[in-house]
Amino acid sequence: MIEIIGPLAHTAANRGVGAGVGIGDAQKPAPLQKQLIERLQQAILGGRLPAGSLLPSSRLLSAEMGVSRNTVVIAYEHLAAVGYVVADKKGTRVSPLSSRAARGEPPPRSAPPKVAYAARVGQFTATRTHVDAALPLTPGTPALDRFPLAAWRRALERSMERALPLALGYGTPAGEPALRDAIAAHLRMARGVRCEGSQVVITEGAQEALNLCVRLFTNPGDVAWIEDPGYRGAKAAFNQGDLTTVPMPVDVEGMSVRSGAWRAHPPKLIYTSPAHQYPTGAVLSVARRLELIAEARRCGAWLIEDDYDGEFRYAGEPIASMQGLVDDAPVLYVGSFSKTMFPAPRIGFVVLPQAIAAHVEVALYEMLRGGHRLEQLALAHFMESGEFGRHLGRMRRLYRERQQALREALSEHFASSEILGGDCGMHLTLRMPPGIDDQALIQRAFAKGLSPRALSGFALEPHAGTNGLVIGYGNTSAEELAPAVRTLSELAAGMEKPRRRRA
Ligand SMILES: Cc1ncc(COP(=O)(O)O)c(C=O)c1O
Repeated sequence: MIEIIGPLAHTAANRGVGAGVGIGDAQKPAPLQKQLIERLQQAILGGRLPAGSLLPSSRLLSAEMGVSRNTVVIAYEHLAAVGYVVADKKGTRVSPLSSRAARGEPPPRSAPPKVAYAARVGQFTATRTHVDAALPLTPGTPALDRFPLAAWRRALERSMERALPLALGYGTPAGEPALRDAIAAHLRMARGVRCEGSQVVITEGAQEALNLCVRLFTNPGDVAWIEDPGYRGAKAAFNQGDLTTVPMPVDVEGMSVRSGAWRAHPPKLIYTSPAHQYPTGAVLSVARRLELIAEARRCGAWLIEDDYDGEFRYAGEPIASMQGLVDDAPVLYVGSFSKTMFPAPRIGFVVLPQAIAAHVEVALYEMLRGGHRLEQLALAHFMESGEFGRHLGRMRRLYRERQQALREALSEHFASSEILGGDCGMHLTLRMPPGIDDQALIQRAFAKGLSPRALSGFALEPHAGTNGLVIGYGNTSAEELAPAVRTLSELAAGMEKPRRRRA
């Protein structure tokens, strides 16, 4: 046998009877029992001990290998428990295994089999290159250094003291009731959403809320509309549901439904970001909101209202949600704390219409498992105690100031480019002349430590006019903005194609 499995590495440390089968120190030889098990397994899988062969008795093998009989008995028992060998009255035999080597057959010469991916895997394209949340001008990153961490720590500690040990178990799949109630109260007051806590489903950020809308309201092959340029997270959710995505153009009034589209491509789902279209910053006009609601109702479609940046409006009265515009609007209202607080807790939500919430309760119970319970309880307290509202107020003032600084810098350094977006949010979008390759520009900017995104990266269909920069100011101080924009303009100037002189 020793010719087949080779000698074991004996040391003073591993010699003792009954040494455990454990993961050994990489430097020291493993316990003898573990070595013996591995050698026998390798010999069986490699075909050197073919199916049916009789292994030596424990007495013989122990003498041959220089180990205690008990070590061999335990090794044989382990191999029998996993199915490498079978023991009967005549002794211990190698089991018939399906591996070619174990059957003594040579390995096949053909190439290893190709991995069969689902078709939808190929529908995703990389867009996140050169985005770094720590760098100035990154869109979608809030002022992380201004978050009131001390208050958040207190809320977390409170939730641990009060909720332990029960909150260490599984929670309600739709989320902690205290948080659902706190969100509903906030949305009624701040966003005009008509809802109760029982309609709010807590999700893993807005992204899971979008995925959930797809799972609850569509079947593969259904048509879903999306703004173009638009939020790729929504496209990703539609891809996952094998939906047929139909892009809809965006103008200064937000999503503009192509004429005849309701008949030609009747949708099941429509994704829109009415408060601050991402990335153009347009506010969906009330006429279009009403039309979308009426037509969606007529053809049995659901509108996903992603209230992106809805909390950050710096001029005039806040624009209330589309969900609350009319009674029983066919709207699934999606929100997230990734921007109003910070992204790490991954807490978002969807507000379902009341009748739907009751209807899908059982399905949600099976589909979701809840999670982040301590953070959810802390967030409920953070909201109820007024900390969340105070933080939003501070951030509104900060972002208003930063937006103003960015506008001034853009007007000075990009005087001939159009600035898109109103008095909302955490980014401005700059439409640039077609001669400038925005993807190349963001790469050069990245090399200088700046991280805006290319507007063309948000286009779902290639078309003219989506050449530009999406410039975040949430994470960039007012003082940093002017020099950063100057750097961008110098980089862009270096890329402009010289105009041909007229003859
Ligand atoms: C348009 C839009 N909606 C929602 C979100 C929030 O997503 P999440 O809550 O998954 O972080 C983002 C994040 O960048 C976004 O750009």
